[in-house]
Amino acid sequence: MRGINLELVLATVAACASAIPTIQLSSPYAGFEVFRVKTDSHPAAVQEKLSGIISEQWNYDINSHIDVVVAPDQLLAFEELGLEFDVMHSDLGASITAESSRSSLGRRQANNSSWFDSYHDYQDHVKYFQTLNEILPDNSEIISSGYSYENRSLFGIHLWGSGGPGKPAILYHGTVHAREWISTAVTEYLTYKLVTGYSAGDKDTRTVLDKYDFYIVPIVNPDGFVYTQTTQRLWRKNRQPGPNGSDCYGRDINRNWEFAWDANPQGASTNPCSQTYKGERPSDSPENQGLDKLVRQLRDGAGIKLYIDWHSYGQYILSPFGYKETLYAPELGKWTKAAQIVSDAIRDSSRDLTVFTFGPSGATLYPTTGAAPDHVYSIGRAEFSYTIELRDIGKYGFVLPPELIRPTVEEQWAGQKVLWTLLDEEFFDGEGPA
Ligand code: ARG
Ligand code: ZN
Repeated sequence: MRGINLELVLATVAACASAIPTIQLSSPYAGFEVFRVKTDSHPAAVQEKLSGIISEQWNYDINSHIDVVVAPDQLLAFEELGLEFDVMHSDLGASITAESSRSSLGRRQANNSSWFDSYHDYQDHVKYFQTLNEILPDNSEIISSGYSYENRSLFGIHLWGSGGPGKPAILYHGTVHAREWISTAVTEYLTYKLVTGYSAGDKDTRTVLDKYDFYIVPIVNPDGFVYTQTTQRLWRKNRQPGPNGSDCYGRDINRNWEFAWDANPQGASTNPCSQTYKGERPSDSPENQGLDKLVRQLRDGAGIKLYIDWHSYGQYILSPFGYKETLYAPELGKWTKAAQIVSDAIRDSSRDLTVFTFGPSGATLYPTTGAAPDHVYSIGRAEFSYTIELRDIGKYGFVLPPELIRPTVEEQWAGQKVLWTLLDEEFFDGEGPA
């Protein structure tokens, strides 16, 4: 351990962490309910009915369900639609209050292991990464993949093993969608395990770090993330003002990538008020520009071996292409095989037998244009490129209780450990393009 007491250092960070400052979010959602509406393969008919009331959509898998948030004054009208549904949150305001009440509890008993029992704010994540960097000063550096509209750093960490930096890259992005807090925790936990494992001489960690350089950017949408903690828990996009004449804020950074930005009208919205607003031009958000710059740098350096964009929720492992359901990349066989093995590893590692569905993203879920994995594969030439949608499958959605952080991050560590061993596997050879 080279003289540093890890538990003590990390405990100090935990003890100094301030509370998530201003969770004033319970009242705006008091009495709101969230429903999982069954579509039974008739999504159009269900959408049509839902359009008669004011509701906000969460995630969906159109052939089985659509998750919607309904305000108190719409509840009666919702019930009268006669849809088949399950209740996800019977009082969203109360669920949001409960989600953050734990942060003070975790702090009072502050020690290293309680860090992953609660959610944290942007500044505390910055500090936590600095501490991880201090634990492994000769094998890591703090990096920035650019700046947000409000000028926050898209900070991250670069890790390497023996022989110094310069090996093929494993690149992780977390929290592109501001409300998907569990993706922050997962990218942070993977970093924590890599740093402490390497430092303690753990064999698996040494093996992967001696082969690849890691670039982990846990919060690629910091403005949106801060906004979810101060103002609106369910914000998704960045905080850039809309184009002239629009009062709406935010571009969806995951519809703003240059590759196939304009390829499919179903894949993103041109309406600045939409949750999936793609921007006026490809890569016209500062966040996307910074992220793309690093992608191209890595491509032009030792290349990108693996890219993962971490999201929630729905439990999917999705590979390109997103922009066209019927387009299958030549590498789809190896990507699907690897995803299947990761899915099995996650299930076998978890007490809850967590099931992850996998496949090409457009066909498996829904089409997206200008999304990260298509770009990082096609422009960044990543050999493996995935979106991973974390827990859950429709009980809590974005507002995942803090007691589920730990099982979620642990099962992803199990999945990644297996994935890393497959990246140079010979049985995949010959399946790529000639
Ligand atoms: N939920 C994420 C989003 O909407 C990921 C989408 C996964 N890709 C896809 N083609 N469905 O950006
Ligand atoms: Zn997302």
